[in-house]
Amino acid sequence: MDSSLFKKDILTASQFTKKDVERVVAVTRSMRDIVDKDGSTDILKGNIMTALFYEPSSRTFGSFVAAMQRLGGGFIPLQGVVYSSVAKGESLPDTVRTFASFSDCIVLRHPQVGAAVTAADATAKPVINAGDGPGEHPTQALLDFFTIMDHFGSVDGLTITLVGDLLNGRTVHSLITLLSLFSPKAIHLVSPEVLKMTRDHLEGPKKSGIKVIEHEALDDVLGETDVLYATRVQKERFTDLDVYEKVKYSYIITPDIMKKSKKTAILMHPFPRLGEIDGAVDADPRALYLRAQIPNGMYVRMALLALVLKEDISV
Ligand code: CP
Repeated sequence: MDSSLFKKDILTASQFTKKDVERVVAVTRSMRDIVDKDGSTDILKGNIMTALFYEPSSRTFGSFVAAMQRLGGGFIPLQGVVYSSVAKGESLPDTVRTFASFSDCIVLRHPQVGAAVTAADATAKPVINAGDGPGEHPTQALLDFFTIMDHFGSVDGLTITLVGDLLNGRTVHSLITLLSLFSPKAIHLVSPEVLKMTRDHLEGPKKSGIKVIEHEALDDVLGETDVLYATRVQKERFTDLDVYEKVKYSYIITPDIMKKSKKTAILMHPFPRLGEIDGAVDADPRALYLRAQIPNGMYVRMALLALVLKEDISV
């Protein structure tokens, strides 16, 4: 089947159609089957990915590199960019043009909102946004979406609660947009007043007529929540650290919170976590971050790399 993502940049969750997302989910399942059965494939033999990371990353960097290797391709790892000419002050477009001449796609993490668009403007090779400051993280949203779909079979009719730093958390910005392509029953946004999601990210659900309700107290919504998605308060985005200190532990998911949650609910977190989830919760079968969400990152990125770099992947 042809991929509508072939040779495309992946810059924002708002570029996807419902059909795109369904195709990513289907290909992700096939990739998981390939890894389970054979460990790897040669679908992308001869292709090279540059992983250009200006900001720290464990999961996104590691899963993209593992994904490319499991697809039979190679990679140029630039993590921290300290040993590249970026350290001498080279511009982002020049760096992107340079590595685009050596490779078939660029996976970019950068601290500035819009950096992935700047990179995409600099090269005809596909650019994949691996997180642009407090902007977006579309590949994380796809893996989050896949995790929900894989568990429940559908997002339709679910009540989804996003909690924590909804102002600076790029994963929730992209996730709320993806969810708006489907029909969840309601989306609850739980945050302190200073960390509320900005109105532009609410356009997707507004257009789709999805009920979005904002709260400060998590207890208000626990009883009806099917997907509890916790996020880290992003210290690195605060200009006033006194404000950070006041809000950093606004919500901590403890065994007591899990007791108040639905027996059928799931708990997710994009990680890293810095105290938002008590370690005692990890053994709860509803906690999916370690056992499903993180591993799914590699399968989803295998699917994306294959769809972007190969016209017909026949899986
Ligand atoms: N979820 C996520 O983006 O994790 P990393 O920052 O470790 O890549």
